[in-house]
Amino acid sequence: MREKILIANWKMNYDFYETTSFIRNLLKVLFDKKINHNKKIIIAPSFPFLHISNQISQGTTLSIASQNIHQKNKGAYTGEVSAEMLKSIGIKKVLLGHSERKIHFFENNCILLKKIKIALKYNFHIIFCVGETITDRKKNIHFSVVKNQLKDTVFHCSLDEMNYFSIAYEPVWAIGTGLTASPKEAQDMHKFIRLLFMEQYGKKVSDKISILYGGSVNDINAKEIFSQEDIDGGLIGNSSLDMNKFLKIIKS
Ligand code: PGA
Repeated sequence: MREKILIANWKMNYDFYETTSFIRNLLKVLFDKKINHNKKIIIAPSFPFLHISNQISQGTTLSIASQNIHQKNKGAYTGEVSAEMLKSIGIKKVLLGHSERKIHFFENNCILLKKIKIALKYNFHIIFCVGETITDRKKNIHFSVVKNQLKDTVFHCSLDEMNYFSIAYEPVWAIGTGLTASPKEAQDMHKFIRLLFMEQYGKKVSDKISILYGGSVNDINAKEIFSQEDIDGGLIGNSSLDMNKFLKIIKS
C-alpha cells in the first residue's frame, strides 16, 4: 500500500506568528474534530520557523520539511543553509527541484544532483519535483522532458536510496496560475513516471514510491485529482495557506 502524502509548500509566506498559530490551529482541529483522513501531512514553512514548527509538531501526526538546502555542507556560502544545520534541529525532509528554484535561482540538474547527494548523506527524505513548461507541452515533448529530468538526477541514485524519495509531478504552467492539469493529463504523466521507476529499479520500487501532483490543487478539484490510480497525494501552494481550504483538501 503506497503512502498518501499531502505537503503544504508555504514558499515565502507567513511570519513567525502566522506560521506557529496555523500549525497549532491545524493540530487542534485535526484532533478535536477527529478528522478522518488517510494522508501523511507535511508542512514546509520558511527557514527561520523550521525549528519552532518542528517543536510544535513533535509527537503529532504532522511533520515538517525544508523548502531547500544548499549543495555544500559548510563554508563561505553567504545566506545559505546546509543539510547538516537542518539535521541539527531535527528536520528530516526536504523539497528539491521545485520549478521556482530553477526559474529564480538557476538550479539545474547538475546542482540538483549535488543537493540530492548531500540530502541522502544526512538521511533526508526527499520530495523531488519534476514537470514540463507550457512550451514543452505544446510541442508534445512533456514526457521526454520529465524523463530527462529524472535521468539526470534521481536515476543516478541506488536502489536502496529509493526508500528516501517521493516524487512530485508539477507542470510548471499549472503552478500558481489557477490552471491545473486535467485528472487524465495528470494520471497519464504519473503512470508514465511510475513506469520509468519500474524500468530503472523494478516493480518493488515502482509499486512503493509515492507520486504527488502539484499545480493549482484546491478544495474543489482535489478529490478528483487524488482519486486517480497513480496519484498518491499533492504538493499544495496557495490553497495550503487557507485553513478552510487546506482542511477540505485533507478530507478529499
Ligand atoms: P500552487 O503551488 O498550489 O500555488 O499552484 C504548488 C507548488 O508550487 O508546489
